[in-house]
This record gives sequence, C-alpha cells and structure tokens, in this order.
Amino acid sequence: TDPGVIRNFCIIAHIDHGKSTLADRMLQLTGVVQPREMKAQYLDRMDIERERGITIKSQAVRMPWEHDGETYAFHMIDTPGHVDFSYEVSRSLAACEGALLLVDAAQGIEAQTLANLYLAMEHDLTIIPVLNKIDLPAAQPEKYAEEIAHLIGGDPADVLRVSGKTGEGVEELLDRIVEEIPAPEGDAQAPARAMIFDSVYDTYRGVVTFVRVVDGSLGHRERIKMMSTGATHELLEIGVSSPEPEPTKGLGVGEVGYLITGVKDVRQSKVGDTVTSQAKPADAIIGGYDEPRPMVFSGLFPIDGSDFPVLREALEKLQLNDAALSFEPETSAALGFGFRVGFLGLLHLEITRQRLESEYNLDLISTAPNVIYDVTAEDGEVHVVTNPSEFPDGKVSEIREPVVAATVIVPSEFVGAVMELCQARRGTMEGMDYLSEERVELRYRLPLAEIVFDFFDQLKSRTKGYASLNWQGEGDQAADLVKVDILLQGDKVDAFSAITHRDHAYAYGVRMASRLKELIPRQQFEVPIQAAIGSRIIARENIRAIRKDVLSKCYGGDISRKRKLLEKQKEGKKRMKMVGTVEVPQEAFIAALSSD
Ligand code: GTP
Repeated sequence: TDPGVIRNFCIIAHIDHGKSTLADRMLQLTGVVQPREMKAQYLDRMDIERERGITIKSQAVRMPWEHDGETYAFHMIDTPGHVDFSYEVSRSLAACEGALLLVDAAQGIEAQTLANLYLAMEHDLTIIPVLNKIDLPAAQPEKYAEEIAHLIGGDPADVLRVSGKTGEGVEELLDRIVEEIPAPEGDAQAPARAMIFDSVYDTYRGVVTFVRVVDGSLGHRERIKMMSTGATHELLEIGVSSPEPEPTKGLGVGEVGYLITGVKDVRQSKVGDTVTSQAKPADAIIGGYDEPRPMVFSGLFPIDGSDFPVLREALEKLQLNDAALSFEPETSAALGFGFRVGFLGLLHLEITRQRLESEYNLDLISTAPNVIYDVTAEDGEVHVVTNPSEFPDGKVSEIREPVVAATVIVPSEFVGAVMELCQARRGTMEGMDYLSEERVELRYRLPLAEIVFDFFDQLKSRTKGYASLNWQGEGDQAADLVKVDILLQGDKVDAFSAITHRDHAYAYGVRMASRLKELIPRQQFEVPIQAAIGSRIIARENIRAIRKDVLSKCYGGDISRKRKLLEKQKEGKKRMKMVGTVEVPQEAFIAALSSD
C-alpha cells in the first residue's frame, strides 16, 4: 500500500466514554463488519474485558474509506485505557500519527484521558477532538467543547460532535481523519524496522504480535529478529486484521498488521521491541525499549494447600499472555506454600486474581500489597525489598520508596476534600489549574505506597464519585519507614508484617492486634498478641485462656452425640493453622488481611 493513503490513529478516551461503541460504528460504516455480524463491542475480545467493560489489550483494525475518489486505508489502534498499562498506551500512541480525543458530552474530560492526551501531544500526534453521546439529554456539548478547546487550543466550534450510538457525525469524523491526520513517512529502502505495540497469546496460533512498520518491509516466510533479545524466528504468517485476520504477502512502510512466528509466550515478543529482518538487520531500536516493571507485589496463597500446583500452572498460563506478570514461590509459616506475584498496579492485581478464581476455580488468600523498597543496611548493602520478610534485620541507614506524579480532576467544590486526603497520604502539591470555572486539575507528588491501598476509593467517596485519578512513576525518595511485625505468643506471623511510615506504624500495630484479638478463638492458655518494630513492642493485646472441654456439655448424654462432637472438632482442626503453639482458624487470616 502507498503510504500516502494510510492513516494510523488511535482513540483516547476515558472508560465508559464510548470508545468501543464508536469503534464498532466505524467498522460498520466502512463496511468491514456487516450489521448482522455485529456483536456489541467487537474489539473487546477477552471475556473479562467484556465483563468489566475495560479494554486491556489493544488491537489494530484496518478499514477502507473513500474520500474524494481515493480509497484510504485506516488503521485504528485500540489503546488500553487504564493507568496500570501506561507503557502499552505509550507504545500504541507511538504507532500512530493521529489520535481522536473522545470525550463524553455529558461528563467532560477525565484525568486518565488528560494524561493520555499529554502523552499523545508529546509524541507529536495530530489530535482530533470529538464529543461523544450528543444524543444524551444530559449532554452539554457547548460547555465541554470550550473545556477541550481551552486544553488543546483551537476553536470550540471545531470540536466534532458525534453519537456512536445513533451514528450521527461519524461519517464526518472519518472524513476529518483523512484530511487532518498526516500520512506515515518512512524509508522504504532502509532495513526493516517494525515496532511491537501489542502481543497476544492465542490458544490455536500461539503468540500473535501486532506491529507498525516504520521503515522497509517484512515479508511472508522471512526470518525476523527481535532487536532487544537478538532472538530470530521465521514469519509463518503476516497480515492485517480487518478485523478478522487476513494474511498478506507482507507489510510495508506505515502499515499496521500482525505477525505469527509460532512462539508460545508473549515474553518472546515484547511490547515496545523492534522487529527487523535477520538478513538485513537495522541498527537501532525504534524509540528505546522498556521492560515491563512490576510496581506492586502481593503474596497469593491457595486456601486449600493441595491447590498449590494448580495455582502454579494457572500463573504460568496467564503469563503466556501477560508479559508484565512475574511470580516466584513463597513460603509463609502462616499461610503455607504460595507465590509472590508482581503486578503493574492494583487493577492488574485485581484482574489477575479474579481470573485465577473464576477461570481456574481457585480460592485464594492475598496478602496486603506492597511496593518495592530499596533498603540500605548499616553495612552499606542495598536490599531490594518486595516482601516485608526481605527487610534486613538490625539498623538500616536509608530506605527509599517509589513516588508517583498524580493528577486528580474534580469539580471545584471538592478541592478542599482532595487536598486533605493527599496531605494525609504524605503528598506534596505541585500545581493546580482550572480547566473551566467548575473543574480543577490538581497535581500531587505522592508515595506509591500511599495510593496502592484504598486511595482511589477514598477519593471517590470524598468527592461523591466525581474525581478521576491518574498517576505515573516518578522516581523514588528517602522516607522514614519501618517494618512492623505482629507476634502471637512471641512468634512472628509473617503474613501480617508490613512496611509503613513511622507515623502510621503505631496505628497499624494497634489495629492488627485488636483485630486479631477478635478473630482468634481463645486457647487453652493465654496468648499475647504484640506489634513490634524490631525488638520494641508498640502494641499489645491478650487473648485470655479458656479450658475448652466440649465433652462436659454431654455429661450423661448418649455416646453417639459425643462422637459427633468429637468429629466436628476434628474437622474444625483441619482448617486451623498452627502459629507456634497457637491454633489460628484460616478465616482469621483471611478476615485480618482483607482491608477494612
Ligand atoms: P471501555 O471499553 O470500558 O473503555 O468503555 P468504552 O469507552 O469503550 O465505552 P462503551 O463503548 O462500552 O460505552 C459505554 C456506555 O456508553 C455503554 O453503555 C454504551 O451503550 C454507552 N454509549 C456509548 N456511546 C454512546 C452514545 O453515543 N450515546 C449514548 N446515549 N450512549 C452511548
């Protein structure tokens, strides 16, 4: 295809602002999907995406569009919308020359959209602003067109108004794509360079890799090379999605399509990597390459210990399709055998956990998530701590924690509430802008550890659901952190150890001690529950002793009733875990670990 008739674009939108509906409408108007084949949200393939209405994996679709007697080839690249997947978003953007900024005409722009808009501007993409859902009675297109024009410059009258639902304005939008988004440029004679912006595992075909060709071309049966690893593969199939896969002879400058090499694991075909030809390799990766880095760690333990092998297998299967998921076995005295799992963020954790439970039928306990700390011990050795159990004993000279740049957008009446929350979470305000008279953008620098727990929930509840949040990593900072241990009868319960700010340590200790006092049944002897920083006890509770003589109740009663009681007690024991000499029911761990 002549690069002059190619238009590569993506859609930047907040969750629920109607990206999938609009994409579906475009597929229909360009004739690539017949109305009767149309199933709602054609592009969201994974069930879990459908269920949660979140687009996790991006896809690329090729569509033809006639304009002024010329047939253009559009490649629409679907970007993941959530912060956890921001590296994938940035790669999708890098594959495009333009972006549709899609905003719900009844809601206005949200923090994530804003973050992705800035990212698109950094990549020098042409932005076409579009207000969607103008058929809604609550739509306020004038107001939000002002807001958008204020953000990106230009005239509010140039902001397109469409409805993905009724189709109004969508043809005009397709024409604007031809007119405004530049054609791709590249050197057709140069060695091939194609950037991977997505990579999906398919049970039947192995890994399907989506690429955007920048220079040169790739052809069927050619041997290709992954530039970050040097690994080579034969191209078993190359083609475009329209939206079903259609094999072609090859892909040239500016084209977007898929490659199949028979590899079985997305980690061999990584988002952000550059594909070149083995025979005539290029010498530089396009735009650098970043390994996906887990930011949040949590222990996952099967409630039924015999499920451990199933959990391992399930994690291995998920990893085939998720290069960002990392895990290693972990043993906990309290919880038994499990895995320490690394995630990109909390949503990634939640989705993974949900998939493990629903698709693999596992019942899991997860420990409180924590971030990565760099702890310098007194002897100068630096420990990378992803698990409180790795925290070095003895004195430490410095602890560094990851920080993020966070953006919150709220109606102005909630500014005070948001500031209060951010302050309580050790945030530093970096700036504040009025998007319009009623809406404000607040920028904070916050420790990642302070936002991974319930920050978003708190934010939502303090702003009646109106706030939107986005964040991205911004290095690390030294912080006054300590490890708090919880001890039962003098024995550490590893699952409850936590790394917290010194100011919050006491509250954490008191809360866990009193919670456990409620949850752990009385034993034959007195059980002290203590919270400690090193050897210093900071909180204490006692579970008083009882003599649990169940049989005395049956004095004189018939023998079968006695036997039943004994059996019941035995069964109960199975679900008990021993911590030192203390019997703790498994429910107590689950309840104590689930956040308030
Ligand atoms: P994610 O996939 O979660 O990012 O959401 P999305 O942005 O793709 O939104 P989706 O297309 O799923 O639409 C969200 C909701 O808005 C659905 O209930 C749609 O039916 C509705 N919707 C989308 N477009 C329109 C529109 O133009 N008008 C009206 N009235 N509703 C719309």
